[in-house]
Amino acid sequence: MPILNRAAELQNEVAEWRRHLHRNPELLFAVENTASFVEKKLKEFGVDEVVTGLGRTGVVGLIRGNLGSGRTIGLRADMDALPITETSGKPWASQTSGKMHACGHDGHTAMLLGAAKYLAETRNFAGSVAVIFQPAEEGGGGGNEMVKDGMMERFAIEEVYGMHNMPGMPIGHFGSRVGPIMASTDEFTITIKGRGGHAAQPHKTIDPIIVGTQIVTALQTIASRTVDPLASVVVSVTKFNAGFAHNVIPEEAVLGGTVRTLVPEVRDIGEGRIRTIAEGVAALYGATVNVAYNRNYPVTVNHAEETGYALRAAAEIAGTSNVKPSLDPMMGGEDFSYMLIARPGAFVFMGNGETAGLHHPAYDFNDEAIPHGISYWVKLAETRLAA
Ligand code: NI
Repeated sequence: MPILNRAAELQNEVAEWRRHLHRNPELLFAVENTASFVEKKLKEFGVDEVVTGLGRTGVVGLIRGNLGSGRTIGLRADMDALPITETSGKPWASQTSGKMHACGHDGHTAMLLGAAKYLAETRNFAGSVAVIFQPAEEGGGGGNEMVKDGMMERFAIEEVYGMHNMPGMPIGHFGSRVGPIMASTDEFTITIKGRGGHAAQPHKTIDPIIVGTQIVTALQTIASRTVDPLASVVVSVTKFNAGFAHNVIPEEAVLGGTVRTLVPEVRDIGEGRIRTIAEGVAALYGATVNVAYNRNYPVTVNHAEETGYALRAAAEIAGTSNVKPSLDPMMGGEDFSYMLIARPGAFVFMGNGETAGLHHPAYDFNDEAIPHGISYWVKLAETRLAA
C-alpha cells in the first residue's frame, strides 16, 4: 500500500506549518512558541486531552480511538533547533541569526501534527494514541525530563515510537534495526596541574603539556587495546587548552573529549580506563589530575517486537524493497534512548533525499517526505491498535 490519500491531501498544509516552525527556531527547553503552536493545533484538531509543561516545555496530546478500549502507544517528535546560522537561502530560512532547524525537528513536529489531525478525524483504532512533542533533544535531555515528570504513567503509555529523517536516504524509504541503533554520548574533561616556570629552565617545572600529550596518546589504547574489536567504541580528544606565551611553561592543561559506544558495558570500561590512564600518566611525572566524566545520553536500543511492528508499518507504506530492516547503527546520540529505557519501542529513520547533512548550515527538511511520514505514523497506530 502506498501513502494514504488523506496524508497526501494534508501535505501543503503541513508544509506550511513546517515552514512556519523553520522560520522561528527555538533552542533546548526554550521552545515556548513552538510548544504553544503545537498546543493550539492539537486543540483545533479536537484531540481528547492536551497537557503542556511536561519536562518543562513538552506537550502531549491524547487521542482516543473509536473501536473500543485497548492499549496506549506513544508517538514522539522533537521540537528544538540548533545554535547554527542558516545558509540554505530558502524563502522560509530562519529569521534569527545563530539559530536554525538544522536537524529537521521542524519536519518531525509538523508530521506528527499531521498524523494527529488525521487520527483525530478518523479514530479508526482501539485504545489511545499519545502524541509526544519534546523539547531539548539537542543536548538538554528533554526526553529524559518528560519521563522523569511521569509522562508514561500519566497517560498509561505502554510502547513508544520515534522517527528521524536521514539525508542521503531516498524519499519514501525507511530503515531501522533491532538492538543498538544510536550510540551513548559521554563527555570527559581532564585537568592536569603541573608546575609552571621559565621555558629555558624546564628541569625546574612539571610541564602539563608533556603530561597531556602522553595522556592523549595513551587514551588511544582504549579503543585499540582494551575494548573487544567487535564492540564499537570512539574515544576522541577534541579539546587541548594550555599555555599563553612562547617562553612560559604553564601551570595547567585541560583536555576534553567524548566517548561513544553501542554497548552499555563499554561505557564502564571507557570511564574506568580514562581515570586510570590520566592518573597513572600524571603520577609518572609528578603532576596531578582531576577527571570529570559526564554520562550523557545512553545507547538507543530498539526492542525486537516493537521494531517488527514499526518495520511492518513502514513496509505497508513504502513497500518491502524500500525498507531496510538491518540499518547500520550510528555513533551519534539520541535522547529518545531514555524513553526506550522507560518503555519498549522502536526508533526508525526516514529518507530526506539528497539534502545537506544533519547539523549542516545549508540543511533543510524535505517537504516531499511529509506524506510518507504521516502515513507511517497513521499506519503504525492503526495496525498496532487494531480492534
Ligand atoms: Ni535530530
